[in-house]
Amino acid sequence: MRNGADCVRASDAQARSEQWMSDQQVHSGFDCDPSTKSVAVPIYQTVAYAFDSAAHGAALFDLEVEGYRYSRISNPTNAVLERRVADLEGGVDALSVSTGQAAVHFAVLAVTEEGRTLVSVPQLYGTTHTLLAHILPRYGVKTRFSRSDKPADLAALIDESTSAVFCETVGNPAGNVCDLEAIAAVAHRAGVPLIVDNTVPTPMLVRPIDYGADVVVHSLTKFLGGHGTTLGGIIVDAGKFPWEAHGARFPMLTQPDDSYHGLVYTEHYGPQAYIGRCRSVYQRTMGAVLSPLSAFLLLQGIETVALRMERHVENARRVAEFLRADRRVASVSYAGFPDSPYYPLVQKYLGGRACSLLTFAIRGGYDAGTRFYDALRLFKRLVNLGDAKSLACHPASTTHRQMSAEEQRLAGIGPETLRLSVGIEHIDDIIADLDQALTAATSG
Ligand SMILES: Cc1ncc(COP(=O)(O)O)c(C=O)c1O
Repeated sequence: MRNGADCVRASDAQARSEQWMSDQQVHSGFDCDPSTKSVAVPIYQTVAYAFDSAAHGAALFDLEVEGYRYSRISNPTNAVLERRVADLEGGVDALSVSTGQAAVHFAVLAVTEEGRTLVSVPQLYGTTHTLLAHILPRYGVKTRFSRSDKPADLAALIDESTSAVFCETVGNPAGNVCDLEAIAAVAHRAGVPLIVDNTVPTPMLVRPIDYGADVVVHSLTKFLGGHGTTLGGIIVDAGKFPWEAHGARFPMLTQPDDSYHGLVYTEHYGPQAYIGRCRSVYQRTMGAVLSPLSAFLLLQGIETVALRMERHVENARRVAEFLRADRRVASVSYAGFPDSPYYPLVQKYLGGRACSLLTFAIRGGYDAGTRFYDALRLFKRLVNLGDAKSLACHPASTTHRQMSAEEQRLAGIGPETLRLSVGIEHIDDIIADLDQALTAATSG
């Protein structure tokens, strides 16, 4: 398959431009199928690929020649998705996986091992918090959570045992915006990579690699896929972290791997060492594979992500302003308000475009919040975000239920917090639904 992006590969300056991004979301990774001339990306619903000979099979397994072996390791449809998201994020390569959660899991496992630590901001998606706080410690990898997302608070926790710093560009559901450049500087000064979950803004609003991130992960299930039909995740490698310069901290990348007949990832893969290890070790042995049909559906979603994000962002701004002006609402957390502590970071990283994920609380506390939630008509009551549809969730009882009250507070959640993912419907209908639900919640 020819890579359509190669024909239009842009300079760094252009790469950041919206024009380039709008084209890449549609074309990157695929021009047309060389044998059939199919213009849509073919769904290669195959498990395996024929070898020309025994020698060819052995060379593929020795990673001496390029090609497909078995779809748990790679698949041509998934490869288009991987190329496209890598290009959109400005990375060298990517690995698609079955869910965003698998992406987070593999992304941190690939640089750590028993006895080592991770350092993370406290504002995280609930299941990511569970993974870092409760699951990985059982395998000997502990996470130190900082008091806040301030770079100095993270810096204070990094030491010789640290394998990576982790943050969400925009926290779910806190809506905090991380100071990526400053956090990357703190991590790099200590010789560790920065892993960023960029699910909420998408590369259409910010590309963390431009600010020093070494690895970017996504739940493709959300805004990139965009239609609430398909689970998926992806890990993007910036290809810039100097693993060999910090070889003692990262022996898994710089020393021979006994499980892969002595392969040294940095020697074999060069700048793609990290993503090569993610694929050869974690995808191969743990097998959280994205189906080719899902890859196809996610590619369909990505083709329109720039358009959808524009509308999501604008609708969310109108919703935030409506809620803030309404006397029935006690508080609104929206980083796009000029008095938000995150407003300067919204200008710097998101080009002034605050995300469409916002939280608020109704006067009357938890009970009024429940009445509001039950009265919604256009908004769907569920646990998801980034669908074209408007969605509402009560994090304390669902997505962040496993956290303690203190952990919830640090993550930006109270018992009364309601989270909205503002969709792309007509803004008048979105506001009318919120208005009638507020009336139902607060009257009588
Ligand atoms: C920021 C973030 N990262 C990761 C995930 C996990 O994604 P998935 O549901 O695709 O496993 C989610 C899910 O809500 C999320 O919000």
